[in-house]
Amino acid sequence: MMIELWSIALLIFCSILSNSRGAYIGINIGTDVSNLPSALDVVALLKAHQITHVRLLDADAHMLRALADTGVEVMVGVTNEEVLGIGERASTAAAWVTKNVVAYLPSTNITAIAVGSEVLTAIPHAAPVLASAMNYLHKALVASNINYQLKVSTPLPMDIIPRPFPPSTATFNSSWNSTIFQVLQFLKNTNSYYMLNAYPYYEYVSSDGIFPKDYALFQPLSAVKEIVDPNTLFHYRSMFDAMVDAAYNSIASLNFSGIPIVVTETGWPWYGGAKEPDATIENAETFNNNLVRRVLNNSGPPSQLNFPINTYIYELFNEDKRPGPVSERNWGIFNTNGTAVYPLSLSAFDNATANSSGVFCVAKQGADIDKLQSGLNWACGQGQADCAAIQSGRLCYFPDNVQNHASYAYNNYYQRMRNVGATCDFDGTATTTTIDPSYGSCRFTGSQNTSSGGGDLFPPTAFGPVGQTAGSSILQVQDIGCMLLLLALLVLHVDLQIVL
Ligand SMILES: *[C@@H]1O[C@H](CO)[C@@H](O)[C@H](O)[C@H]1NC(C)=O
Ligand SMILES: *[C@@H]1O[C@H](CO)[C@@H](O)[C@H](O)[C@H]1NC(C)=O
Ligand SMILES: *[C@@H]1O[C@H](CO)[C@@H](O)[C@H](O)[C@H]1NC(C)=O
Ligand SMILES: *[C@@H]1O[C@H](CO)[C@@H](O)[C@H](O)[C@H]1NC(C)=O
Ligand SMILES: *[C@@H]1O[C@H](CO)[C@@H](O)[C@H](O)[C@H]1NC(C)=O
Ligand SMILES: *[C@@H]1O[C@H](CO)[C@@H](O)[C@H](O)[C@H]1NC(C)=O
Ligand SMILES: *[C@@H]1O[C@H](CO)[C@@H](O)[C@H](O)[C@H]1NC(C)=O
Ligand SMILES: *[C@@H]1O[C@H](CO)[C@@H](O)[C@H](O)[C@H]1NC(C)=O
Ligand SMILES: *[C@@H]1O[C@H](CO)[C@@H](O)[C@H](O)[C@H]1NC(C)=O
Repeated sequence: MMIELWSIALLIFCSILSNSRGAYIGINIGTDVSNLPSALDVVALLKAHQITHVRLLDADAHMLRALADTGVEVMVGVTNEEVLGIGERASTAAAWVTKNVVAYLPSTNITAIAVGSEVLTAIPHAAPVLASAMNYLHKALVASNINYQLKVSTPLPMDIIPRPFPPSTATFNSSWNSTIFQVLQFLKNTNSYYMLNAYPYYEYVSSDGIFPKDYALFQPLSAVKEIVDPNTLFHYRSMFDAMVDAAYNSIASLNFSGIPIVVTETGWPWYGGAKEPDATIENAETFNNNLVRRVLNNSGPPSQLNFPINTYIYELFNEDKRPGPVSERNWGIFNTNGTAVYPLSLSAFDNATANSSGVFCVAKQGADIDKLQSGLNWACGQGQADCAAIQSGRLCYFPDNVQNHASYAYNNYYQRMRNVGATCDFDGTATTTTIDPSYGSCRFTGSQNTSSGGGDLFPPTAFGPVGQTAGSSILQVQDIGCMLLLLALLVLHVDLQIVL
């Protein structure tokens, strides 16, 4: 009997897994940019990189028009200046919806309204009307009969969770109890989701070395550095997961459950002032590539494995007109001329970044020979780089030295694997360059000069059959795992019956 119940529970669990398809990566588009490209150019950039979800920090008419008929899902934003008015008068909310949403449907696929940005901490005087602003907007959607197409929510910062670690004991700052309670009640009643702005960057820099940088950057942790929640014994592989779980637990501490979290902002600045040494291009590249890989793997954080963590990266362009420290103006992943600031693939099939930035990965001049040799061995072995060209008699064999061979192997590995998060490091012996390292008839992978890079860039072993997203193939593995487990239990069940 027990076993039958277990099988049923497992079957339900399996079907939940199968239904939680398609975690997505979206991107924030801020507009405090001096050379902001035209809306059509922005949309062309989004399409070139197969970006399927965007969050506008406002409801810019040009962007909303340009996004029509693109298939991109759009989250529009009520600005903080507008929150108070909308929270005070239903008619203001209705007018906002008519002007900024109804006018663009259905050609522009607006699927959510984000009410303000971090209202509780940015404009606390508006907190008392936050829930009513959300309610009025929702009622306006109901009146237009579009409430099933759009969710209303409000992006909340991690700051309202004073002690996020360990995640199991995290709670909201109790001075916000009543506001947050109303917000959660609204989200629950309208089947909406919790919008979380979660920045491991800030958590890491303010934690004074308590947490290893690798943890903030989703890099593998050595056994001694593993981060474990002492109450749940969950192992946290990344600070990002721990932050999302802290928010889930804070919600649970107010007795709400079943409200999914969507991360409306996260990212890493790539340049900062003298006192911001962690804002580097290497860290930003590592963080964002690992983030994409993490999110697209489709699993939830340890406490909520079946809620994928849909996430919007902050942000498309540097907002050079923003006030504050230098890093504040350097979160963008693209230059305004459309080139990538650093190689980043926003989806498993984003080939556009693969060579549009023309970035190669080569051995550093003067790097330690032994380390280079290990890097070379790793790349051609476990790293599955295609090292045929550096074998004796082949085009890239000469000059026959470790430096040259490592460069070729590092670069081949990097070009093939950066779409799934690989970085150019190799124990500090590698560096990126925009100068094509090809020479004579030796063509480096990704060189614009190769006749067809396609086969090299996307080997079937690394990416699975074309036409399948990384998410769905991983999910299938989970499904198969589930089914096998189920089968095992059924067999066990039969065995037991025979024994009995
Ligand atoms: C808009 O997005 C929703 C949510 O993914 C989707 O179900 C719907 O088909 C999209 N609508 C259009 C017109 O593309
Ligand atoms: C909680 O929020 C209040 C109001 O913003 C603030 O004064 C207080 O310092 C916060 N408490 C903690 C522990 O962060
Ligand atoms: C806020 O909620 C927490 C968790 O339920 C509770 O422990 C706390 O007493 C509440 N604080 C106030 C001021 O109501
Ligand atoms: C949550 O539920 C528990 C158990 O029913 C109760 O003791 C607690 O007071 C509730 N907390 C809140 C914030 O409502
Ligand atoms: C997905 O990421 C989570 C968190 O890092 C990890 O625990 C899990 O094993 C990953 N799943 C797969 C299939 O890679
Ligand atoms: C694009 O802009 C970046 C940053 O301003 C600059 O470094 C780069 O050379 C530009 N590329 C092109 C092709 O104009
Ligand atoms: C990316 O590559 C795949 C297969 O290699 C191809 O089907 C797809 O059209 C390419 N996308 C772009 C934007 O080039
Ligand atoms: C990437 O490289 C391929 C093959 O070399 C080329 O056809 C394609 O146009 C390049 N894409 C970009 C965006 O430069
Ligand atoms: C491409 O390669 C050929 C032969 O190696 C060389 O002659 C030509 O200059 C190269 N073109 C560019 C743009 O690098």
